[in-house]
Amino acid sequence: MILITGAAGFIGGNFVHHWFERRAKLGLPPEQVVVFDKLTYAGNPATIAAQLKSGEATLVHADIADRDAVRQALQQYQPRAILHFAAESHVDRSIHGPGEFIHTNMVGTFSLLEESRAYWMVMPEAERAAFRFLHVSTDEVYGSLSDTDPAFSETTAYAPNSPYSASKAGSDHLVRAYHHTYGFPTLTTNCSNNYGPYHFPEKLIPLMILNALEGKPLPVYGDGLNIRDWLFVRDHCEAICQVLEKGRLGETYNVGGKNEIKNIDVVTTICRKLDALRPKESGRYEDQITYVTDRPGHDRRYAIDPTKIEREIGWKPAESFETGIDKTVRWFLDNTEWIDTVRSGAYRDWINTNYQGRQA
Ligand code: NAD
Ligand code: DAU
Repeated sequence: MILITGAAGFIGGNFVHHWFERRAKLGLPPEQVVVFDKLTYAGNPATIAAQLKSGEATLVHADIADRDAVRQALQQYQPRAILHFAAESHVDRSIHGPGEFIHTNMVGTFSLLEESRAYWMVMPEAERAAFRFLHVSTDEVYGSLSDTDPAFSETTAYAPNSPYSASKAGSDHLVRAYHHTYGFPTLTTNCSNNYGPYHFPEKLIPLMILNALEGKPLPVYGDGLNIRDWLFVRDHCEAICQVLEKGRLGETYNVGGKNEIKNIDVVTTICRKLDALRPKESGRYEDQITYVTDRPGHDRRYAIDPTKIEREIGWKPAESFETGIDKTVRWFLDNTEWIDTVRSGAYRDWINTNYQGRQA
């Protein structure tokens, strides 16, 4: 049994799907997962409804900062590994309200580390040796690159620029310290921008797909020339599985697909895909693109150097941006029920908060 925090969210939810599909493909017996999730606005049990229904996954609805709840879940389920995805994850929200980011990403990670270490310390010897704590983090901790800088490697100095990335950097440092000081068996992954099914529609790619289909403006921040390094979410999930199996304790692994793309090119790619799959009655989706006031402190460029994970672990992405974006757009066209479930009143309030004050 493994315990996954934040597995009702985008990447954690995809991970639950990937976990069972992968084990079946490799001929391994299904290993149960415990989903430990606070079910914030970003947590949607609908994403993992099939696994919850079949009993492959069990949901513990609680906050990682609630130490009693964490302790109880560890005692009850006795996991052999903890995969820590839970976080406040949206940069724009961290600019409007950083408090929740400090609570979950820093205090929550600290609470989880403390309780996990106490649990690990009293495990029988063989189980203690096999136990792993895998911390899922981001490339944003490294800050922003210029057009000519080399891509982020594991030795790039941390320089987080937003309250979100600062809180993730804080959590990475805690994880590192728990390995260095206590010998706690940690692994950390720092991944670039993910996209794919079940992506919460406050983020660039799902927001653009849904706004386009609804005839709304496609709000591109600033000059649209910021660069992100896009990775299909299932490739990230596979990287996490392989790091869990083969990663060296205390190490960090950068995960990325060498897909550096300017935001405006991401948006036009989506528009052209929709022109082909769901043509408008008149005009083209690109006509809806609207440049709006930039994100404060907007990082210019992210890029991952994945040499270490490729060489040491043998991981490589399976999807190109072309194949991944095709699967993603088709998924959003086909899954309107999931989309309706996640776009609550609170979601609409957020869209007003983030976009109303931006000048076109
Ligand atoms: P998400 O916002 O979609 O999901 C976060 C999940 O965590 C939700 O299910 C939410 O309910 C849960 N959660 C939030 N606060 C919690 C708390 N206090 N206790 C328990 N559960 C809580 O996030 P995501 O995009 O799936 O990201 C998952 C992880 O991957 C995060 O740690 C993020 O920093 C990291 N990451 C994300 C990306 C990306 O492109 N989305 C890239 C690299 C790394
Ligand atoms: O790099 C990894 C990170 O990627 C993760 O750690 C974060 O959790 C994840 O949210 C993502 O952060 P970004 O800020 O890069 O993702 P977002 O989808 O919010 O924005 C992608 C780019 O698109 C960024 O340059 C800002 C821009 N953007 C975003 C939105 C929501 C727009 O131009 N318009 C928008 O409306």
